[in-house]
Amino acid sequence: MRFVRMNNCKPDMIVARPLYSECGALLLSKGHLLTDRHIHALKQRGFPGLYIFDQFSEGINPEEIVLDDDMRRIALNGMKEIFDKGANISQAKNQELCKIVSRIVYDIVDHVFKVNPAVLSVPLMKSFDEHVYQHSVEVGILAIMIGKNMNMPKNEVFNLGMAAFFHDIGKIFVPKTILSKKGKFTREEFNVMKIHPEWGFDFAKEVLGLPPVINQAVLHHHERFDGTGYPYKLKCKQIPLFARIISVADVFDALGSSRVYKKAQLTTEGYGYIMAGAGRQFDPNIVDIFSKTVAPFPTGLTVELSSGLHAVVVRNNPNFMTRPLVCAFNPNNLKEREHINLASDADALGIKIVGIV
Ligand SMILES: [Fe+2]
Ligand SMILES: [Fe+2]
Repeated sequence: MRFVRMNNCKPDMIVARPLYSECGALLLSKGHLLTDRHIHALKQRGFPGLYIFDQFSEGINPEEIVLDDDMRRIALNGMKEIFDKGANISQAKNQELCKIVSRIVYDIVDHVFKVNPAVLSVPLMKSFDEHVYQHSVEVGILAIMIGKNMNMPKNEVFNLGMAAFFHDIGKIFVPKTILSKKGKFTREEFNVMKIHPEWGFDFAKEVLGLPPVINQAVLHHHERFDGTGYPYKLKCKQIPLFARIISVADVFDALGSSRVYKKAQLTTEGYGYIMAGAGRQFDPNIVDIFSKTVAPFPTGLTVELSSGLHAVVVRNNPNFMTRPLVCAFNPNNLKEREHINLASDADALGIKIVGIV
């Protein structure tokens, strides 16, 4: 299977991975044939593209997906419950929902330690209308992967995962009119929005009864390494480690579904932004781990090579993420397919990825 940008989707292409709406409803199932109507509707929803089966990608399977679709959906449902109801239910009810989420986080951490994936291929199918609970799950998965790749012990990665899942929980107290606003905030709206780390800290501590290491990460996830963040303008190591990790995962995911740009960006673009922020907005050591954890060209992506051929990314090289193993093809002759390892093939050293098809 391979990922095809919405503009390059054509009727009769076969859907390879199911597509879900923002609230988890199935939009298109695997094996479905695309129609003009589907393509139009998916463009309207802001999906950047989707995975399809075709001759170019025969035998290629994205192998670096950390969570299967079922596990991701269970996590989404758990977070949706607490984000939808948290502000209006009793402490006991909130603690019950928190327990459900903590079991999900535990399962994900357990899975990541067992399967031990080196690389995270972020799903490319997100719409720009991502909800805060979806964002929380994506930030959680990425933070867990970074923690594991930093060689943290499992119980610490669990706490990091919990902090990442709940980092934006304070948003349950932000008025819906602000939260769901499309486009830029006014200064007043932004000032209200900026209180969410403190609201989240109070909620995590007083209502959910989570430990200080988690509450502190919730409070400081908008601090920036160079002291330009909020609420306390903390700098460098003054910012708790978990908050430094979550800020990288948070910004990376937010770029993938940016409301400001009105267009979900592909992983590659967000990747460059994080790399450029090393030592300024972000802790350079964490950016270094991030760069070895997230694939800028996820498996299944169709790219253009400097040689003029098109290619599908087959596998990432954790030590050289910008130069994956690809399967190049000639669009005019489907039989002409060639595997090229951009990191190690001697005759591929002059070839690079120049664009996404
Ligand atoms: Fe936040
Ligand atoms: Fe966030």
